Amino acid sequence: MRQPVELHHASRLINHGPTVLVGSAHGGRRNLMAAAWSMPVEFTPPRIAIVIDKKTFTRELVSASGGFAVSIPGRALLDATYAVGSVSGRDLPDKFSSYGIASFDGPVLGQPFATDAVAWMECRLIPEPHTEDAYDTCFAEVVWAAADPRVFDRGRWSFRDDNTELHTLHHLGGGNFAWPQRSEQATPLAPTIQPPRR
Ligand SMILES: Cc1cc2nc3c(=O)[nH]c(=O)nc-3n(C[C@H](O)[C@H](O)[C@H](O)COP(=O)(O)O)c2cc1C
Repeated sequence: MRQPVELHHASRLINHGPTVLVGSAHGGRRNLMAAAWSMPVEFTPPRIAIVIDKKTFTRELVSASGGFAVSIPGRALLDATYAVGSVSGRDLPDKFSSYGIASFDGPVLGQPFATDAVAWMECRLIPEPHTEDAYDTCFAEVVWAAADPRVFDRGRWSFRDDNTELHTLHHLGGGNFAWPQRSEQATPLAPTIQPPRR
């Protein structure tokens, strides 16, 4: 079956990777926002791209400090994630304390993480002056990372029935989230048509 999708909803077909929390701090202020749009862009050194709207308070702090902290929330932070994505830190004294979100400072850049997340990446902003006016996308190098071994171990996620509270959140739009439920090892299909012999 195929039904047309309105183009303004097209990005939702591919943007249900884990929603993250972007922590930022500069000049005595700190902040946290939700971001559903992020992706890896380079292997070594590890680099990511993340969309941080130029109008957000987060973007102001990130540009000023040159770094940010990405916390990857599990289900325990479902409502907090939606909350910090629905109000600007310009309108609150501090989103961490306003919403009772425990925090710790990143070991490399001192950027603020959400303690109760399931994984954490501290990122150094890669200045891209020629794109800054045109795009909301920020590129950054990951300089430190950690994860809860109950759900991410030996370099991969493990989503099981006994750790559903630690499953990552995937935003589907309008405050609606899904979580993975189960991970399964694939066995590669054997091709049924072999390449011709040379
Ligand atoms: C689930 C969710 C995902 C979001 N994803 C993004 C995103 O990828 N990029 C972005 O710029 N804003 C995104 N937002 C909106 C920001 O989180 C929102 O504008 C926030 O209030 C900005 O806060 P700040 O002004 O304190 O930085 C998202 C909001 C929600 C609820």
